[in-house]
Formats: sequence, C-alpha cells, structure tokens
Amino acid sequence: MAVTLLPTLSPPVSRAAAAFVLLRRAPAKAFSSLRPPPNPRRFLASASASSPYPATPPTALRPLSTVASSCTAARATPARRDLLMLGIETSCDDTAAAVVRGDGEILSQVVSSQADLLARYGGVAPKMAEEAHALVIDQVVQKALDDAKLSGSDLSAVAVTVGPGLSLCLRVGVQKARQVAKSFGLPIVGVHHMEAHALVSRLVNKDLDFPFLALLISGGHNLIVLAHSLGQYVQLGTTIDDAIGEAYDKSARWLGLDMRKGGGPALEELALDGDPNAVNFRVPMRQHKDCNFSYAGLKTQVRLAIESKNLCTGDIPISSASGEDRQSRANIAASFQRVAVLHLEEKCQRAVEWALKMEPSIKYFVVSGGVASNKYVRTRLHQVAEKNGLELVSPPPSLCTDNGVMIAWTGIEHFVAGRFEDPPAADEPDDMQYELRPRWPLGEEYSEGRSVARSLKTARVHPSLTSMIQGSLQK
Ligand code: KG4
Ligand code: ZN
Repeated sequence: MAVTLLPTLSPPVSRAAAAFVLLRRAPAKAFSSLRPPPNPRRFLASASASSPYPATPPTALRPLSTVASSCTAARATPARRDLLMLGIETSCDDTAAAVVRGDGEILSQVVSSQADLLARYGGVAPKMAEEAHALVIDQVVQKALDDAKLSGSDLSAVAVTVGPGLSLCLRVGVQKARQVAKSFGLPIVGVHHMEAHALVSRLVNKDLDFPFLALLISGGHNLIVLAHSLGQYVQLGTTIDDAIGEAYDKSARWLGLDMRKGGGPALEELALDGDPNAVNFRVPMRQHKDCNFSYAGLKTQVRLAIESKNLCTGDIPISSASGEDRQSRANIAASFQRVAVLHLEEKCQRAVEWALKMEPSIKYFVVSGGVASNKYVRTRLHQVAEKNGLELVSPPPSLCTDNGVMIAWTGIEHFVAGRFEDPPAADEPDDMQYELRPRWPLGEEYSEGRSVARSLKTARVHPSLTSMIQGSLQK
C-alpha cells in the first residue's frame, strides 16, 4: 500500500514569534515513583469500589491504561476481520491518518509532514505545529477515507493518539476524532503513542506474540520495555536527558545539513561517506550498570568537535562545502552515529539479559520509532538480537516514523480486548475540553537503587533476577 504524502505546509508565522515559542522535543520524564500499571482485566472487575483509578473520570476521553470499557453492548461488534478502524495521529509534527482492517490489511495511509517548518525554525514550535495540524487535518482524514474507498459510516471505530506529545497538537487530532465519531455514532479508542510504535510490529509480523522486548527510539523518547501482554509493560530503561532522535537532529543541524529531509536521514546519508573512527567520542553511561540512556553529553561532544575543527557549518551549508570540509563533517557524522548506536547496543544487551531472566519465553526483539528506520541502527541491533537467540522485528521505515497505521492498529488491539469509549453524545459541544496525556509513562518503571527493589517486588519478578539486578547495580 503506497503512502500518500501530502505537500508540507508552512503557516505564516513571524520569525520573532517562532523564536519565542520554539521548543526542543520534550525529553521523556524520568518518573521517580513507581505506579504499577493496572491489570486491565482485573480492573474490569474491580473498577468501582477500591480501585485507585477512577471508573468514570469526568472528561470524555480517558486514557486506556486507566479505564475499562465504558461501552454498552448497544452495538453489535463485528468479527475482527471485518473491523474497519480509522487512526489519527497529531502528537508532534506529522499529521497522519490511516484506515486499517481488523486482520491488519492497510487500506490507506496519509501523512502530511511539517518538515519545512522544522527546517526553517530548527525544532517543533507548539503553536505553529498546532496551526499546521489544524490546517490539514480535515484533508488528511478525508483522503484516508477516500483512498480506502470508504465513508465514515462504514467505520467500526476511531482511534486517536491522546499522549504523550504536545497538548496543543494532540488536541487537534482528538477534536477531529470526536467529530467523526459523533457524526457516525462510532466508539473511540484513546491510544498511547509509544505503545503504538511497539504494537505496529504485531501488524508487520503476525507471529509476534507477547511477551516481547521492545526498544522504542524517536525524537522525544528512548524506551526499552518488556511487553508482558496488551497494556502491561515494564520499562527497563529510558533516557535521563535527550532521546537519540534529538541527538541526530541537533547534530545534523550543527553540521549544516539539509533539514528538509529530516535531521536523522540527512545525517545517516552523510555518515556513509565518513570514517566512523575518525573522532573518538566517549560512549555515554558506561559506568551505570542499568538500561538507561543519555544523549545530551554526546550532543555536546559533537558541538565541540565541530568547533575544534573550525568548520563554518552555520554559514556554509553542506551543499556548498569544500571537499575537505565535507569530509570532516562526514567523519564527525559517522563517528557520532557509531557511538550513538553503540550506546543503544550496550544498553540493549543488558536489557535482553534482564528480560530473558524475567520472561525466558521471549523470542522477539522489536525495534521501532523514527530512528529505527536507520539502516545502521537496524543492522547493529540485528546483531544484538542474533547473539542472544532472538528475532529482530523492525517495521518498514514508513511504519517506524509517525503514522496513522500504528494508531489504527493499536486501536484494533484494544477494541478487540474491549477497551474503548462510547460514541460522543449528539449534543457534545465542539469546543469541549478533553483529557489528554502529554506526559504518560508506558507502564511500570525500573530504576536504580531502592526503587528497583520496590519495583521488583511489585512486579513479582523471579528472585534470581532481583539479586542479579541488585548485584549489577552495586558493581
Ligand atoms: O517516531 P518519530 O517519527 O516521531 C516522534 O515520535 O518523535 O521519530 C522522529 C525522529 C526524529 O528525530 C528523526 O530525525 C528520527 O526519528 N529519524 C531518524 C531517521 N529517520 C527518522 N534518525 C536516524 N536515522 C534515520 N534514518
Ligand atoms: Zn513517534
């Protein structure tokens, strides 16, 4: 199925306004306290009385991990194969929609990227991104329906990203989803963006059963999770500062690359011409015997390397650089990529060991999220998987970067499990404020020291793993 790429849009915003609202992608927040994910099935049975998760929050759209189905049996549920799910994604800088059938057939996939805006302003500016989403959302959703040769009344439900992401942007997608759902009386499934990056691998590989290990690498997140079952995730590691995608994007910008094709892809291309051992960057976090990541220090090392070589990357774009200058930049790019990915490899190796102790039946190692479309990343992590007797599953690039298919598919997975919301009331106001989850951890978190012990207890992990992890933390 071909992906329809709509032309990129640049809403008129003044440079001063842009500079004012410019934000880096929000790094994943390190949550110090543990909050075990509710067991959705158990929650179904006990939502009313003693549960810490309210059974009926006041707002219309409730995050999946905190709710059981609120849908009454009024609609006859079609067989899974016949389900038709519209997925809508607006959490960051891509406006995407897709229609997917319950058996995984992709009927349409439409993406409108804000790459031009990113290139011009060097990052995601929430207000501008919101305007750009608002400008194209109707067109993107309509095209997804048209390409699938369907109308809204043919759909079974609508899935939409409710977090994590930029609130202003998420709101555009959620509003559209509710509008479609209201018009056609459709249930809604609120989707976790990072869960969707992980679960789309189950559309790609139908044999991929739980439990599995997943590395999710994007512009704002660097997560390694053990997926026990649908909605049940244990976070083995996260970034303590920046995600790897942010490091690719910033390094690409500092190297004067053409950001219109995206920082990551531009740097990957230049790195092909460089010597990966030319610059001796330090591998982050080697002294930390955990599965967490850090990319802020590596970013700084790249900046210092550029400065020390007196490269005028700010004034001279790569396309106008001399042969020698270009080679220096390529060497820095290749050296950065080698170390950035080596950091992934080392932490993933440890995570695989932890995960196999917890769940010896694991067969698959999923690598997904925008950065997973990088060929070098895939090759190196394939080796990690192979060395540990696991099969690497990495979706094709169009399903690794943000897309509507992953949202629709995750919607299907949850819909089939009975987790969805009633269609909006016919008199629901269009400007209703919905509950969004701009920061939403994916499952329970492991962290160092006391909280590891606490989380191991909470997760009822095998005692041998408890002592192994505690031992390695003391080393
Ligand atoms: O998942 P994604 O599309 O959006 C977020 O959820 O953030 O990931 C976007 C990130 C960006 O940082 C982008 O530069 C990076 O993925 N990326 C890549 C490549 N393609 C996209 N990084 C390295 N190599 C690539 N080929
Ligand atoms: Zn993403």
